[in-house]
Amino acid sequence: MAKKVKVAIAGVGNCASALVQGLHYYSKKGPDEGLTYWDIGGYTPKDVQIVAAFDVNSMKVGKDLSKAIFQPPNNTVKITDVPEMGVKVKKGPLHDGIGKYLKDVVPVSAQPDHDVVQEIKDTGADMLVNYLPVGSTMATAAYAESALKAGVAFVNAIPVFIASDGKWAAKFTEAGLPVAGDDVMSQVGATVLHKTLVKMAIDRGVKVDETYQLNIGGDTDFLNMLEETRLKDKRESKTSAVRAMSPYEVPTRIGPSDYVPFLDNDKVCYIWLKGRYFGGSVVKIDVKLHVVDAYDSGGVMVDAIRGTKAALDRGIAGQLESLSAFCFKHPPVQMPYQAAKAAFEEFTSGKRGR
Ligand SMILES: NC(=O)c1ccc[n+]([C@@H]2O[C@H](COP(=O)([O-])OP(=O)(O)OC[C@H]3O[C@@H](n4cnc5c(N)ncnc54)[C@H](O)[C@@H]3O)[C@@H](O)[C@H]2O)c1
Repeated sequence: MAKKVKVAIAGVGNCASALVQGLHYYSKKGPDEGLTYWDIGGYTPKDVQIVAAFDVNSMKVGKDLSKAIFQPPNNTVKITDVPEMGVKVKKGPLHDGIGKYLKDVVPVSAQPDHDVVQEIKDTGADMLVNYLPVGSTMATAAYAESALKAGVAFVNAIPVFIASDGKWAAKFTEAGLPVAGDDVMSQVGATVLHKTLVKMAIDRGVKVDETYQLNIGGDTDFLNMLEETRLKDKRESKTSAVRAMSPYEVPTRIGPSDYVPFLDNDKVCYIWLKGRYFGGSVVKIDVKLHVVDAYDSGGVMVDAIRGTKAALDRGIAGQLESLSAFCFKHPPVQMPYQAAKAAFEEFTSGKRGR
């Protein structure tokens, strides 16, 4: 029987829903449009199994994952029915997971916390994927510690710095486990588009004078991000990815900009760039991107998960540099998109160490 990639997830929100639905969709369809890679390290999307899931929402805790992903306030689009998975969502430790705005829409389960480490061990998971809300600093630390204690890899989809933090990375290196992150860079998302525009302008001799990226959406991610105090790492993550494309300082403003409830899980992004080219002539680029946010992350996480499993198979511990540069906004090492893609492919084919 083919080897499997066994995944535990923390946070059964829209991103988890898109991942679970997407895995089922491609398992039925086979290699089809929308995937960057069918095979990574010998694993196809058919080989990725979600074996454990944690949440705090009483509408999700205790339910089979196939049902929990469709509970409110999740509101991403449904692309497929998902058959019973035999994976009951367990109550995770709350810590700072639910902020000022989410507490009105997320009923927190009164059940006692489940033993996260034991659940990961019992289910034989290879890695824990972190999908908590932005600003869940303590909760993310608790799940990262659990991954270390359970002896599994950690893949951090959110902008709390773990893979890109030297102290955390050292803990994973010491434990002989890989760590990937931070903050997933969506497949055709605002960050990769903005990075590419800035890089193209600079490569072609433009002096970039100013740039901004404004984002709006109608899901709990955007509702939660109305709380400015939870946003410090998110702004840093998104801004650093674009800033790394320029050899000089460019006045830049990037971040989530508003919550528009009727957009549901659609995300709209406006990118603006102003610069000067030959003879000081002015160039302005004004772009609008419209995507279903959760599926945009799913298309990359399905690669990050398989790349991390390939690292486990090869006994690679600590920061996964090329994988993180390709799949995440705030990796340990920033790379332009094309360089990151080449490094990722060398890494997953075994030609590159990390
Ligand atoms: N394209 C994208 O959607 C994208 C891109 C980059 C990063 N991210 C990040 O991924 C994360 C997940 O996004 P989402 O849209 O699924 O968010 P979401 O709000 O839909 O889901 C978060 C889930 O975490 C649960 N939760 C809260 N505290 C918890 C705890 N302590 N333990 C376990 N579960 C807990 C919530 O109940 C909810 O189900 C966010 O931080 C988001 O910023 C998403």
